[in-house]
This record gives sequence, C-alpha cells and structure tokens, in this order.
Amino acid sequence: MAAPLVETVGLSKYFKTSGGGLLHAVEDVDLKIYPGRTLGVVGESGCGKSTLGRTVLRLQMPSAGDVLFEGESILKYGRRRMKELHRDMQMIFQDPYSSLDPRMSVYDLVAEPLRELGGRRTSRAELGEQVLGIMEKCGLPRRYANSYPHELDGGRRQRVGLARAMVVNPRFIVCDEPVSALDVSIQAQILNLLMDLQQEHGLAYMFITHDLCVVRHISDDIMVMYMGCVLEYAPKEELFKNPLHPYTRALLSAIPTTDLSRRGRQRHMLSGEVSSPVDPPAGCRFAPRCPYADEGCRVGVRLEEVSPGHLCACRRSREA
Ligand SMILES: Nc1ncnc2c1ncn2[C@@H]1O[C@H](COP(=O)(O)OP(=O)(O)OP(=O)(O)O)[C@@H](O)[C@H]1O
Ligand SMILES: [Mg+2]
Repeated sequence: MAAPLVETVGLSKYFKTSGGGLLHAVEDVDLKIYPGRTLGVVGESGCGKSTLGRTVLRLQMPSAGDVLFEGESILKYGRRRMKELHRDMQMIFQDPYSSLDPRMSVYDLVAEPLRELGGRRTSRAELGEQVLGIMEKCGLPRRYANSYPHELDGGRRQRVGLARAMVVNPRFIVCDEPVSALDVSIQAQILNLLMDLQQEHGLAYMFITHDLCVVRHISDDIMVMYMGCVLEYAPKEELFKNPLHPYTRALLSAIPTTDLSRRGRQRHMLSGEVSSPVDPPAGCRFAPRCPYADEGCRVGVRLEEVSPGHLCACRRSREA
C-alpha cells in the first residue's frame, strides 16, 4: 500500500475546565489515512470526534503527540506554511447553513476560498470557469449561481459546503457529520457524490459520524472512539464481521434491522452511566458500563493488534 497521506502519533487534546480539572477530549490516538481511502470515525456524542478532526487539521493545537502530512510533522509550520497546507486539507461540517454567509450568493460562496488563498493570479473568466465547473461537479447546476443559502434545501446547501472545500483542489477532507442533518434519501446522494469525487481525485477522507450505517457505506477502515480513546480499529469488512470490543458489539447490535432472520438475535444493550471525561481514572474508559469488566480493566488497557490490521483495546474480548 502507498504511504499514508495523514498520520497521527499519540495525538491528545485536553481542555482545562473552570473547576480546574482537565477534560480529556482526545487521548493518545494513532491513525493513518491513505490517498483515495476513507477512515470512518464513529462514536457517541461527546466522545471527541470533532475535536480529533479539528486537531488533525491543526485548527486546534494538540496538547500532545504529532500530526504528519506526507510523513512530515505539521506542528512546527508557521502561518504561511499552514495556509498553504490548508489548500490540501479541508473540512466540511454537519450544518453548512451556519458556516455559509447568508448575504453571499452561491457563486461568491464557492469563489471565496479561492480568492482568500490568492496565490496564482486568475482572471475573472478563469475564476468563473473554475467556480461553475466545481459547482457542476458537486451537483449544483449553474442556474443556482445567483441563489442565496436560504433559497436552497439542506442537500443543496451541503453541496455548496462541499464545493467550497473542493474548489481549492484538496487532497484530504475531514467530513464532520456531513449528512447527519439530511433526509435519508438525500444522505445517499451526498455520500455517493463524496465517493465519486474521491475516486476521480484520489481524495483521502476522515469521515466522522455517529451513524454506523453511514460509516459502513463509505469507509475503508473504521475507528471506534469512546471518551477520547480508540477502542477498536479495523478494516470495515473485518469490523462488521468480527467485532471484538464489547462496546463495538453493543453499537452494532443497536442498528435497527428490517432483516427478519436477524430480529431475534441477541442484543448487547448498554447500561450504566457514561463517566466524566474530566480527570478520568486509569484503566478502560468503558469499564463502568461493560458487563465483562473485572478489576484488571480498571488498572490498565492497551490497544493491541489482535490479527493483522485489527486493533482492539480490551483485556476481556475473548470472554466477551
Ligand atoms: N473548546 C472546548 N473547550 C472545552 N471543552 C471542549 C471544547 N471542545 C470540545 N470540548 C469537550 O470535549 C469533548 C469532546 O467533544 P467533541 O465535540 O469533540 O465530541 P463529538 O464526538 O464531536 O460530539 P458530537 O457527536 O456531539 O458532535 C466533550 O466533552 C466536549 O464538551
Ligand atoms: Mg462533533
């Protein structure tokens, strides 16, 4: 396989709380994302997915660890270098509405990132061609050029968000819940568009979602997060066929099914409170909710390679 485009090593992000504690939003995350491939990041609300995405793009400085782009640490880059790098690394959000200036037309919204980055001087005609070209690629016919965000439905607004990311010709996009606010039929259209663009441009994605059906549709590899930590990391097929962590199993068994033959299967329901991410105790973060946890789990746990490419952070996965 090619070398990773984006890599993190021991990446952590902590926030000081008003009470003087330390909130562990992201803890010791190692990941690799390859050109043309998608890493799905899945987990419940508040587990640190967005913080991870922002830290990978250095929109937030990590508290510890490193972020590499093409094998080079980006943490020491100055402003200018970072600005250049943000041509290669873009982000799209759940709610494009709040990130789109309501006073700007679709055309100006899509042209803005290009104008901001400046660089090579482009003539008006060239700019127009680029903007309309990328709009079209993102499924926005040119008749929408003079529309405003409030005149568009959610799916088209997300297409504008995507066009704004694509117009600078990036190589890596963090997609933070980009379809979570959309109707299911529109979700599929946007996911398929993302996959078409990926194929055509060899893009790498980090795709953040709490929805396992979505992550299954789009990912090559999947990382399961819980309270800032990685609990399981595996190629998609392997994760769905052979989930090892009790938390992953609980997540998978909670997917609603229309398949009658699977209706009666055992469900691993989660009980217990999610503990606080502020000054968390040592050991497995999931232990307070885990039916298999024993004393050893509260002492410590390591993410280990169980089979080639399949990592799991559970001492008890065999028993489970
Ligand atoms: N700027 C910040 N200051 C303090 N705490 C923060 C900050 N940003 C995030 N957090 C905390 O870090 C933890 C992780 O938040 P994050 O938004 O990354 O989770 P998430 O997995 O994206 O959740 P969701 O699915 O709801 O979007 C949460 O406990 C959150 O309250
Ligand atoms: Mg989030």
